[in-house]
Amino acid sequence: MKRFVIAAATLALGTFAVTAQGADPIAARKESMKTVGQQTGAGARMARGQAEFNLAQARAIFASYEQAAATYATLFPDNSQTGGDTAALPAIWSNRAAFTAAVAKWGADARTEGAKVTDLATFQAAFTEVTKNCGSCHEVYRARRN
Ligand code: HEC
Repeated sequence: MKRFVIAAATLALGTFAVTAQGADPIAARKESMKTVGQQTGAGARMARGQAEFNLAQARAIFASYEQAAATYATLFPDNSQTGGDTAALPAIWSNRAAFTAAVAKWGADARTEGAKVTDLATFQAAFTEVTKNCGSCHEVYRARRN
């Protein structure tokens, strides 16, 4: 009986893992980055003075990065290396630990830098710092497109 319960639990866990991956991780990670891109566009307009500075919105931008970073590295299961018009490079899977660390650093920077924002000047400094993560990660892990 005990053995049966364990087997059933293992089976249930296995089913869950398959279901989680079946939920189209490529679409999910593209969607996640699309939101990040929109937030960054709004942030860039504020930083350049093309849009009025708004403290709540500024904080929300960093919060959105933190939120995306919290799950982003989990959206790259082994079976999602190709297809779905992905721009993800094989380096993600061959350097999994480094990629996961880059995602975590981005989230940590967003938290640390976001906490310093009180006005336009501190926002500009924090935004510049945190968005360095975008290019440094894309350079290694995302295919260039024309
Ligand atoms: C730790 C790595 C990493 C960081 C940090 C990161 N990205 Fe990405 N980003 C990726 C990868 C990988 C892809 C390609 C995913 C795919 O196509 O499967 C991507 C794709 C994108 C896309 C295209 C989404 C689409 O429609 O397919 C945009 C826009 C984007 N990132 C913006 C940003 C911005 C802006 C930042 C910084 C605020 C950022 N990213 C930070 C790894 C990262």
